[in-house]
Amino acid sequence: MSNTKIGLGLAALGRPDYINIRSKTDIDKSVEAFKSNAFKVLDESYQLGIRDFDVAPSYGLGEQFLMDWNTSRAHKDINLSTKFGYTYVANWEIGFSGKHEIKEHSIEKLNEQWEVSKGLLPNLKIYQIHSATLESGVLSNTAVLMRLHELKHKHHIKIGMSSSGTEQESIIKKAQNVVFDGEELFDSYQVTFNIFESSTFKILKALIAKGKTIIIKEALANGRVFRNEKFQNYQKAYQYLESLSAKYHVGIDAIAMRFIMQYLEPTLVLSGASDLQQLNQNLKAMEFELNENEILKLKSLSVSPKHYWQERSDLKWN
Ligand SMILES: NC(=O)c1ccc[n+]([C@@H]2O[C@H](COP(=O)([O-])OP(=O)(O)OC[C@H]3O[C@@H](n4cnc5c(N)ncnc54)[C@H](OP(=O)(O)O)[C@@H]3O)[C@@H](O)[C@H]2O)c1
Repeated sequence: MSNTKIGLGLAALGRPDYINIRSKTDIDKSVEAFKSNAFKVLDESYQLGIRDFDVAPSYGLGEQFLMDWNTSRAHKDINLSTKFGYTYVANWEIGFSGKHEIKEHSIEKLNEQWEVSKGLLPNLKIYQIHSATLESGVLSNTAVLMRLHELKHKHHIKIGMSSSGTEQESIIKKAQNVVFDGEELFDSYQVTFNIFESSTFKILKALIAKGKTIIIKEALANGRVFRNEKFQNYQKAYQYLESLSAKYHVGIDAIAMRFIMQYLEPTLVLSGASDLQQLNQNLKAMEFELNENEILKLKSLSVSPKHYWQERSDLKWN
């Protein structure tokens, strides 16, 4: 059993290029086609019981799509989360060769992006620092932290942060020390956790026990959980994942998501589905249960964070 819910992340729905192992090549990359696909996936998600949706200003037009959908559907029972700190600069240029997102964790960027993101209220429930790092100094930037504290109380929202990289645990520890009037600023943590990278298990369990919201991103390791000859070190893992997939009559994606739901039991695991088919396949994770031995075996497939994140940074935008 698991109380974990599946949410939908819009990273792959709002821009023509994204970091993943893209198998489909015949995608219509026009804005109209992306918007229409995003609305289809959002409507189907709601229909299938998903109530949590995650976005960021840097997901191309993702935040705008979510805002338009939110306004036009007027659902009262959905929880939206967005972030500040990265700006999308690829201008919908297919195959854009430069950096697609520029990071800026300043008070000016926070105020600028909040002016747009607040359009998601009152369904906006979690506002997050996008990829907080130790180097950016955002976790000791008093102006930013005070402004987040103010937004939290003024709009009755949770404040969260997302993390990436080998330092996830240290970043979370540092975030826990941000306190205003005896109360921790951060209520929610969005973290990369999957079969190959589970190094934050202990600290996330402790946060869950404290009642924090834990949101898991990159549950499919950006597509690396699917058999791929490029990743020779995962060949044994692929064999095992495929045997479970055959046993439970679901895809590898559902096995990978189910593992997180039972092993870690976070609040949410984000589906990063880019179309209706992937969404339906991802949601199969709700329909079966892995046994204890299988969880143990899946747990043993993790690699060193250093290796995992090096591989992640070598992935291409496509
Ligand atoms: N805060 C952050 O810094 C941050 C970073 C990353 C993600 N996120 C959040 O987490 C969400 C999920 O993460 P993610 O999408 O990056 O990573 P992910 O879940 O590890 O990978 C998603 C990718 O896996 C592929 N996929 C999914 N289901 C599939 C299926 N059934 N068959 C084949 N391929 C399948 C799709 O690739 P194709 O599109 O190539 O088909 C999809 O784009 C995002 O949408 C976003 O909301 C946040």
